This record gives sequence, structure tokens and C-alpha cells, in this order.
Amino acid sequence: MALVVFAGCSAVLVAAAVLAVALPEVGGRESEVPVLAAEHGVDMGVAVAVEPLLWDGDYRHVVTSTYTSVTAENTMKWDSVQPERGEFDWSGPDAVVDFAERNGLDVRGHTLLWHNQQPDWLSGGSFGPEELRRVMHEHVARLVGRYEGRIGAWDVINEPFADEGTELRDNLWYGVLGPDYIAEALWAAHEADPGARLYINEFGIEDGGPKADALYALARDLVERGAPLHGIGFQSHFVHGQVPEDLAGTMRRFTELGLEVAVTELDVRVPEPPTEEALADQAGEYRRVVEACLDVAGCVGVTVWGVGDGHSWIPEWFPGYTAATPFDEDYRPKPALDGIVEALARRPAPVAS
Ligand code: G3I
Repeated sequence: MALVVFAGCSAVLVAAAVLAVALPEVGGRESEVPVLAAEHGVDMGVAVAVEPLLWDGDYRHVVTSTYTSVTAENTMKWDSVQPERGEFDWSGPDAVVDFAERNGLDVRGHTLLWHNQQPDWLSGGSFGPEELRRVMHEHVARLVGRYEGRIGAWDVINEPFADEGTELRDNLWYGVLGPDYIAEALWAAHEADPGARLYINEFGIEDGGPKADALYALARDLVERGAPLHGIGFQSHFVHGQVPEDLAGTMRRFTELGLEVAVTELDVRVPEPPTEEALADQAGEYRRVVEACLDVAGCVGVTVWGVGDGHSWIPEWFPGYTAATPFDEDYRPKPALDGIVEALARRPAPVAS
């Protein structure tokens, strides 16, 4: 039985973890994922929350036996990191990064500028351009700089476009600094960690269409202006039955700009109650998404949004939907996990001579 001991746990907590419910056996299909992902040279990541990472041995076991990287689901967002102006709380981010390093996992940083999960002092403040610029630079410098060389990639800009639209979202940053807030934030992150891969992360672009076109135009403009943009994150929150046919084609367009791409927040939500047939189909949908990444030379990996169905954002945000991740509420692997393994188990594509 493998037991991952969390950094900083007291002896009492470690003992409690040892006595916890028996962990699933290592050697199930989940343990094939990191091996196969490494053969393909891609990451298979998962979004993690701090509380279960600290307190739930089964949760930790799924993360360390199945995945090669972690993304902080919430704890690196602005309201967690700087809840009051000038007061930084590193407990959550440190916990995630320390856990990852102790277990040989990479870390994706999520996220620097986003219109959600901003503290009141920020979203309700009335800042002029100079002051807001100072606030932004300080936050980015402190957060990215703290983990310089330890967090390989950052979602610098999250969801810059209007939900359904092709216009830049009218968020705090856009309203005060104008459209160049995006390049400014990229430069700020680059200064804080010149080695980090810097991303724009967006949803609703996976199937192409006007929003993807608008993001493409923005990315091309940034690349042409020499801004430190390295990647595009395809969030990929899918509904069962609506996983796009040509995700690879959409991703490839962006790689032709010289950018890398990643599937950053994959889940496939299923209407309640989840039937066996739906879960079997969901396996094929997970397989297709991972295959799409493997089919694109510049796709660096896939991150699943939630360790298990008991830790998924879906039931709260989409009542009537459930079962969106590859593990059930008791951390038992679902057919979706087989779908991931099947995709990764394909022979690597032959290198063209
Ligand atoms: O912070 C409060 C805490 O004080 C309170 O005790 C607790 C009680 O429920 O709620 C906490 O807030 C929750 C927060 O996550 C932090 O845990 C909210 O209820 C919850 O709605 C919030 O949801 C997160 C959501 O972003 C917020 O926008 C999800 O967990 C998280 O998965 C989701 O992640 C986003 C990505 O960052 C960007 N892409 C979309 C994706 C899904 O919305």
C-alpha cells in the first residue's frame, strides 16, 4: 500500500492517515497513466483543492498514483492569495507546491487575472490606471516570483473574452487599463519568472467558431508584438454528447502561431442520474480529448478538473449534472479512466523521416 505523507503533517496526522480506510490498490489502470504520459512526453494533470490534499489520504493517493502535474483549483486565485490589500496568504499555494515537489509532480499556476474570485477591496475599489497598474504588478511579482523556477506554467489571463462573444470582456482590468492589460500582465509575469510558460486560458473555444477566431486574432497580435505569450489553454468543460469533433484542428491553428496548447480544465458532465451507458460513452469522450492532444505536436498535456466526482465544481454550478471526472465519489476509477489509458496506450506516432 502506498501512502503519501503530506509535508508538515504532525505525527498524529500521519498516524491517522495510516489508519484511514484502505486505499485502492496501486497497480490499477490509474498507475499506467503517468508511465504512458511520460512516453508521449505529455503531462496528465489534475486540479486539486487544499483541504482534501491536507486531510484525505485517498484523495492524495489518486493524485499521486494517476497524475503527473497539479493545478491549484482555487488557492492561487486573487481572493485567496491577497484577501486584503497588501496581506498575502501563502498557506494554500505553499501547500500545493510543496505537495507537488515531494511527490515529483509538476505544477500549473492558476490564475493571475480573472474577473471572478477577486477580493472586495479589488473588485469594489475605484482605481485610476496608475494605481491599478501598481496593484497588478505587485500581485503578479509577489505570486509568480515566490515560485520562480517551481511553477512551470501560469494561466496569466483567464477568460479574457465575453462569455458568448468576440469582444474582450469588460472586466476591471479592461475598464481601467484598456486592452493592453493583457500584454502588461504577460510582461509582469515574465519579469517575475523568465522561465515560466505563460498562457491565456479560455473556455468555449474548443469547437472553433467566432470566439476562437477572436482569441486567435488576439494571440497573433501578441505574438507579432513580441509579448511573452507561450500557450493557449483550452479549458474544455464539456457536456456529455457535445464533445467537439475536431478539437485537434482548433488546437493546431494556435500551434501554427508558434504557441503551445494544453487542455487545462477537462471534465465531461453527465445528466443525472448517470447511466452505465452514459458513463461508457463518457469514456470514449475522455479518450477522444486525450487523443486530440496527442495528435497535436504542440499540445503539452491534459489537466482534469477535479480529483473525483465528490470534489467537482459541476453539481454546485450545473444542478442536474454530475459524474464529470474519471473517479467516482469513493475514488473508484470509472470507465473514463480507461478512456484516458486507451488513448495514451496507443503507440506514439512514427517520426517522419
Ligand atoms: O471561499 C468560500 C468559502 O469561504 C466558503 O466557506 C465556502 C462554502 O461553500 O465557499 C467558498 O467559495 C467557493 C470557492 O469555489 C472556493 O472554494 C465557492 O462556493 C465555489 O462556488 C467556488 O467555485 C470555484 C469556481 O471556479 C469559482 O468561480 C470552483 O471550485 C472552481 O472549480 C472553479 O474553477 C474555474 C476555473 O478557475 C476557471 N475556469 C472555470 C472553472 C469552473 O468555474
